[in-house]
Amino acid sequence: MKVSIFGLGYVGAVSAGCLAKNGHHVLGVDTHQGKVDHINAGESPIIEDGISNLISTVVREGRLRATPDAGEAIAETELSIVCVGTPSAPNGKLDLSYLASVSRDIGCALSKKRSLHTVVVRSTVLPGTVEEQVIPILESSCGRKVGDGYRVFYNPEFLREGTSIADFFAPPMTIVGSNGVDLPDIVRELYKGIDAPFNVVPIRVAEMLKYSSNAFHALKISFANEIGRVAKKLGADSHLVMDLVCQDTKLNISKAYLRPGFAFGGSCLPKDLRALTYRARELDVNVPMLASIVPSNNVHVDEALGIVRGTGKRKVGLLGLSFKAGTDDLRESPLVTLAEKLIGKGFDLRIFDPLVNLDRLVGANKTYILREIPHISRLMAPALSAVLDFAEVIVIGNTSQEFKALETHKFHSEQALIDLVGLLKGKAPQGVAYHGVCW
Ligand SMILES: NC(=O)c1ccc[n+]([C@@H]2O[C@H](COP(=O)([O-])OP(=O)(O)OC[C@H]3O[C@@H](n4cnc5c(N)ncnc54)[C@H](O)[C@@H]3O)[C@@H](O)[C@H]2O)c1
Repeated sequence: MKVSIFGLGYVGAVSAGCLAKNGHHVLGVDTHQGKVDHINAGESPIIEDGISNLISTVVREGRLRATPDAGEAIAETELSIVCVGTPSAPNGKLDLSYLASVSRDIGCALSKKRSLHTVVVRSTVLPGTVEEQVIPILESSCGRKVGDGYRVFYNPEFLREGTSIADFFAPPMTIVGSNGVDLPDIVRELYKGIDAPFNVVPIRVAEMLKYSSNAFHALKISFANEIGRVAKKLGADSHLVMDLVCQDTKLNISKAYLRPGFAFGGSCLPKDLRALTYRARELDVNVPMLASIVPSNNVHVDEALGIVRGTGKRKVGLLGLSFKAGTDDLRESPLVTLAEKLIGKGFDLRIFDPLVNLDRLVGANKTYILREIPHISRLMAPALSAVLDFAEVIVIGNTSQEFKALETHKFHSEQALIDLVGLLKGKAPQGVAYHGVCW
């Protein structure tokens, strides 16, 4: 395939060398004449393990050259990969000036081209950038709408500097963001021979994925380092601790706890986080990331409260009171906190939880309810139907199987449904106003 690569920095130079090695004919484009000259002399414009040999080989074999001329690159290739920088402005805002400029260059060149062309944006950009910035610039400078002789995909890059060539040939996955109309078969062809799962998703999902991955990597490093700082002070070997954390592929290194949903609670997580961060404070160990977890969780409860308030309705039915389905444990349940906030704001509240029935409860949990939250226990309804008949806003708070009955429930036209756990995502009955807490 004939491919042009706009931006010959770390990502562009590595992609150019690797795609050429895989048999494609690559034309690199950069506004920096020095980088163009380096490539044409068979030299790498960047320092990276293995890149010098790779570039000198593919240039010598005639499969890679470079030009500063965008028009030449668009005319001579069928697919263009955009790898220009998207640096931070001093205030942290994403600087899209290089991307805007290259989109104009490509759009102008496309205005002179009649055969089908594919633009693949690979620079890291926030969700909405391709649809709201890149495509409008391409359309206005080309004079034709996307779909009329050219199409646009987003294809995030997962390589790491230092191991980028190995990462290019063995990425964790290949992701193509598509508008849903155009099939990215040509992108599949581009990565032929690269053994990785190939996922086609909406463009915004692909854009968000890149940030989610990098934020997660940064979070993991900070987590390990904060655990390490506390462990060191407490005489525990942090490497052994974290090796064992990673050995648990059921709850730790797994999908568990990584699905956007409602706040955590219960008798362990909040208590243990408090104990750990309190001990760190006693030891003068600063752990800002661990210390911010409980405040972040509280924000999530307030988010749910905000969605209820946003409906403008006053009669609220809360389905679920325990912190998760399958237990009647109400200690530190975020749903108890939400109920208290709703009561505090004057909402008329009824609650149903199939496992929290005062007549059947015994022991510590009954004592907790009667002593700590008697005002809430008085609002418990005896059956799901009683809450559904009463409420203008129904809030699904945990994943009790009983609540799945709502899939076929006939809601009144005025009722709203707020799903804190994703139980009815994509399955809510037609006509009811459905709100997810973070989807
Ligand atoms: N560096 C990494 O490890 C890495 C990994 C994954 C994703 N990314 C993302 O990939 C993108 C590129 O990163 P990088 O580190 O390669 O950037 P870089 O700054 O090293 O290279 C960008 C190149 O684009 C060129 N350029 C700017 N405007 C141009 C234009 N109009 N036409 C042609 N070339 C132009 C610049 O001269 C420069 O050579 C960024 O969005 C980055 O966030 C980087």
